[in-house]
Amino acid sequence: MCGIVGFVGRAQAAPILLDGLRRLEYRGYDSAGIAVEQAGEIRIVKTKGRIQCLADLTGEGQKVPGTLGIGHTRWATHGEPSDVNAHPHRSMSGKIAVVHNGIIENYVELREYLQKKGYVFVSDTDTEVVAHLIDYYYKGDLLKAMIKAVNRLEGSYALGVVCADCPDQFAAVRKASPLIVGLSEEGNFIASDVTALISHTKRVMYLEDDEIVLVGREGVRVYNMNEEEIEKEISEVTWNIDAAEKGGYEHFMLKEIMEQPTAIRETIRPRLKEGRVVLDDVCLTAEDLKGLRRIIITACGSAYHAGVVGKYVLEELTRIPVEVDLASEFRYRNPIVDDKTLVLIISQSGETADTLAALKEARRRGARTLSIVNVVGSAIAKESDDVIYTWAGPEIAVATTKAYSTQLIVLYLFALYAAGLLGTREEAELRRLAAELESLPDKIEALLPACKPEMQRLAAIHYGAENLFFIGRNLDYAAALEGSLKLKEISYIHSEAYAAGELKHGTISLIDQGRLVIALCCQNALFDKMRSNIREVKARGAVVMALASESHPDIRETADQAVLVPETDPLFMASMEVVPLQLFAYYVASANGCDIDKPRNLAKSVTVE
Ligand code: AGP
Repeated sequence: MCGIVGFVGRAQAAPILLDGLRRLEYRGYDSAGIAVEQAGEIRIVKTKGRIQCLADLTGEGQKVPGTLGIGHTRWATHGEPSDVNAHPHRSMSGKIAVVHNGIIENYVELREYLQKKGYVFVSDTDTEVVAHLIDYYYKGDLLKAMIKAVNRLEGSYALGVVCADCPDQFAAVRKASPLIVGLSEEGNFIASDVTALISHTKRVMYLEDDEIVLVGREGVRVYNMNEEEIEKEISEVTWNIDAAEKGGYEHFMLKEIMEQPTAIRETIRPRLKEGRVVLDDVCLTAEDLKGLRRIIITACGSAYHAGVVGKYVLEELTRIPVEVDLASEFRYRNPIVDDKTLVLIISQSGETADTLAALKEARRRGARTLSIVNVVGSAIAKESDDVIYTWAGPEIAVATTKAYSTQLIVLYLFALYAAGLLGTREEAELRRLAAELESLPDKIEALLPACKPEMQRLAAIHYGAENLFFIGRNLDYAAALEGSLKLKEISYIHSEAYAAGELKHGTISLIDQGRLVIALCCQNALFDKMRSNIREVKARGAVVMALASESHPDIRETADQAVLVPETDPLFMASMEVVPLQLFAYYVASANGCDIDKPRNLAKSVTVE
């Protein structure tokens, strides 16, 4: 995934582009560049490395005068991170410069075609073909050239395009990669997401696939691929700039961990009325649900782990069989899906390529689709029959926390809603669960300051651990999956989540003297089983750090270290125990000096396969 920005107006463009790129750096940070139009010339400055390298090269933009430009921060897909592979890419004539987020899947064929026409390529990227192709079709009308060129492209793209002959406007187009237009008195913008625009304007347009926009100083005009102008709704962004800033925290990740109570409240608020779950966003009827043979939940990474929690909760409350599958597996396994299947897609970004492809595969096979997404107007949101948004606000840290937690909340809400429609739980029971759900933000708000120092202390003890285990049963196992990934992705320490009952079937051979095992014992009905598992691993030398509910302080008699979390309904315990696990991962990574918000090799949303 990459980040693109564009600006045209009265102010100098370069500083604005750099500011926007800094807010998009979480989308990828291998290299960066800007292209600015000045007196009929396009000046391009680009470099391998972070945005700061680009800012240093351009004197924070002062060395690149001009009031129209585009910018890019890259997460490499084709061509290693390097100066020459950095965007923007320029056509041979020098007239056209392009920034791109996505993948041009037929770039090899286009490259060969253009080389036969005499075009010389200088980079290893797929994007360069776009610059030459637009140039090839450009006969003085940028819109026409864009339409012809884009009609030849296959794959996903959000493109920003400047032309040396157009000092007062630039072009952009969207296909399967997000692109937003920002409107202000100061000038007009494009960006991959709202965080790059929010400090300038809250008036935005969400481009749809195959829409081309000409962004001018005084206004914008949107066209379809038949060159017909179309009217677009202007939306008002509801959150403000500090939501996209660190707010005094050292890292976005810690800020977002601490924001979880608010994010959960915002996600619940519009969906609980007089003690009952109300999902206006969902058109599924009782008949639709009664007609289902099963539900398949498909997602990637932490969203997948939320889906594992969702499986246990949905099956318990609705008695509909639920299968959970990695999106990258689902899409290629000839899944058994039909119109009696509800496919539930979970994605923070709404742009994950594997998840989007799984969604399209499910629709192609006739399934009803419902997505749980955090980004309004994202590709997955647009492609689904129903969407339930997690109102977590922008999540900047690569490692998800508040978005994961709000995904759990939406899954609980949906399970209660469906159980109400199906009558699989008594009204009184559903009201009790809804009330318990509503109490979660306060409980987490109390848990955060209570467990933070303890997790810092435990991280200081264990930050050198290697090859550790997270074990649990039932929903604790689902929580263990997320706890393990959090630790791995930000501290680079290998860990494995394991069903506690399965350990003795082989993997327990890996338990040796001093091996750290984090045992999740928050399912009270399975507490004794977990205590046995703790004894099993301790007998082989393990050091056990256990999480349990406050109703089991006796865990301290069995484990070496214990963290107690507030009691809630067993169905919702994953929401409680993930909080100390997030903090543990954060402080271990911090103790190891890792780049917590931008871990190596990762990007916030993986919009490529
Ligand atoms: C989670 O911390 C990771 N950043 C990653 O596993 C992420 O959950 C996964 O890539 C899915 O992203 P999505 O929710 O935006 O689809």
